Amino acid sequence: MKVALVNGSPKRQGSASGILVAALQDRLGPTAECVVCHAATQGRDEALAAFAGCGALVFVFPLYVDGIPSHLLRLLDEMQGAIVGVAPDATVCCVVNNGFYEAHQNKVALEMMGSFCVRSGLRWGQGLGVGAGGMIAAAPIGRGPLKGLGRALDELAGNILASRAADDRFVGPGFPRFLYQAVAHQSWRLEARQNGLKARQLYDRPQG
Ligand SMILES: Cc1cc2nc3c(=O)[nH]c(=O)nc-3n(C[C@H](O)[C@H](O)[C@H](O)COP(=O)(O)O)c2cc1C
Repeated sequence: MKVALVNGSPKRQGSASGILVAALQDRLGPTAECVVCHAATQGRDEALAAFAGCGALVFVFPLYVDGIPSHLLRLLDEMQGAIVGVAPDATVCCVVNNGFYEAHQNKVALEMMGSFCVRSGLRWGQGLGVGAGGMIAAAPIGRGPLKGLGRALDELAGNILASRAADDRFVGPGFPRFLYQAVAHQSWRLEARQNGLKARQLYDRPQG
């Protein structure tokens, strides 16, 4: 089966979405012919060429303002109506990760992708919402705090290979919320200092 994996992060490297794409590709194994696309650098025609003949299209992206990042939204808009012509049998799956701890924050973005499928005449497979995206680069997927994420990706890969639709899943880290928040605050303070700011300036409001 040919599978297109679309990295929908605007980051060229070091994105949580990139790590999730690699983890999923690993789990799909050699029976799947995977093509990885980058929504930030590839346009409509390139993406449609990559989608040609696919049995599954997997969009992996970060949650932006409770929705889809604008560059990916524009690409989807440009492709809408044309995808079904190049990949009529494709099942669409999505993996959305967010910065806040709660994975359910990704529910609305998954619903947006579901609406896109309805309008595009495509079949929805499964959505996976991943909370605490800041942890994804910090631990190996499938072990320790990311054990649950590993299991959810195993299940998604199985469903993709079987062209099977399944209920959306939401998975957070096996890590306490207060610790995640404390680490996030500490790293923002460090970033502020590295950029010549004092920690209290993080709370400044723009003038005017
Ligand atoms: C412009 C912008 C908007 C964001 N909006 C949200 C949001 O609404 N909810 C949330 O939990 N995280 C939000 N985030 C955090 C990202 O979803 C989070 O950092 C994610 O792990 C980034 O994934 P990536 O590395 O794949 O790009 C936002 C980040 C940016 C830069």
